[in-house]
Amino acid sequence: MNSLTVTPQGPLRGTIQVPGDKSITHRALIVSALAEGSSTITGYCHGEDCLNTLRALQALGVSIQVDSDKVLVSGKGLSGLTEPEQPLDCGNSGTGLRLLAGALAGQSFCSILTGDSSLRSRPMGRVVTPLRMMGAAIQGRKGGELAPLAIQGGALKGITYHSPVSSAQIKSAVLLAGLFAEGETRFSEPLPSRDHTERMFLSLGIPCEVERQTLVLSGRPTFAAQDLVVPGDLSAAAFFIVGASLVPDSEVTIVNVGLNPARTGILDVLGEMGADIRILNRRVQGGEPVGDLVVRHSPLRGISITATQVPTMIDEFPIFCVAAALAEGETKVTGAEELRVKETDRIHTMATELTKLNVAIQETPDGFILQGRANVKGGPCLSHGDHRVAMALAIAALTGDAPITIHDTDCIATSYPQFHDNLLDLLTFSH
Ligand code: S3P
Repeated sequence: MNSLTVTPQGPLRGTIQVPGDKSITHRALIVSALAEGSSTITGYCHGEDCLNTLRALQALGVSIQVDSDKVLVSGKGLSGLTEPEQPLDCGNSGTGLRLLAGALAGQSFCSILTGDSSLRSRPMGRVVTPLRMMGAAIQGRKGGELAPLAIQGGALKGITYHSPVSSAQIKSAVLLAGLFAEGETRFSEPLPSRDHTERMFLSLGIPCEVERQTLVLSGRPTFAAQDLVVPGDLSAAAFFIVGASLVPDSEVTIVNVGLNPARTGILDVLGEMGADIRILNRRVQGGEPVGDLVVRHSPLRGISITATQVPTMIDEFPIFCVAAALAEGETKVTGAEELRVKETDRIHTMATELTKLNVAIQETPDGFILQGRANVKGGPCLSHGDHRVAMALAIAALTGDAPITIHDTDCIATSYPQFHDNLLDLLTFSH
């Protein structure tokens, strides 16, 4: 329950490296555990979310050695996991719980997945429904809508599933279960979500093709472990991209950032708002596009965001709200109701906290309307236990004229344990 006080103190300047991508780290750990043979994952995310997935895999009998920059996973193959003695605690992580549910649906033993109070209130029916259709027996509170989930896996069969929600977590749960299924698994969704799982499958030689907007996976492949490299997390970089855009005289370089096109909505939107972002050294690493970002201060204009843009910047809305609060003119977001079922209801938490800081923001059922050019005022505010809300408020604090204290900031370690160090590096470098 720590707190963080941030005082406005001039530009952000210097070069940083953000943590490894959280989404890719979860996938790298799970897929390596199911592969035949050992592999090294370099640049993994040290955030608590990913460490919970790592510990869950260890409890499933996978040997994982942890080093400062890499982990060594001894893969057990598709049928090598063993029954855990205790419930598997995924902490705050929807990705960890939903992806593990997919992998555990194919196991012939019983396992229980749970997490903290936030995770136990998030919708799980969205993965339970297709996994049951594939043949897994899953019990949970409210008919399987809420964790803890008890999964008795077994002989799965491939299904054709159209998800009502665009979600990489649903897609990845179905694809991971599809590895164990007899026959083909076909998956489609309204708008494309991030495709890290598909890219990783392909790089490991697991056939996973797109046929007219439907993903097709052939079940029961054998695949050998392969060393994986995790790029920096664009969702972590976004805090300093917005910070550098907003604070006059700033210039920040963020090296080695993942630029998967299903994730770069925030760069496109900030660019349209007037941000000065250059991408250098574009390259492909482990099947994922990567580059270095140079961001300079630039005045921003308000913008309208609609449903089609939402999946490509789904995790960036808390920090996007801060960008919009300082931009010239109005910003309107629609079609973003998924924000209400994230680590917190991010429409409500951001509206509540930004209102405390003197920002004119009005909630709507599926988004918000925000008036820019706010005079951000100092004082206390609250993260609500949501890591991205905490970091967004810390960046907002750089734009006002009095310190802001954010309460309940332990949650930052969920995805970005070195956030405060990186912030101090960029502020110190400028003095
Ligand atoms: C994630 C997918 C997104 C995102 C989450 C990570 C993933 O969730 O919000 O932080 O790693 O698959 P949905 O795709 O379910 O919206």
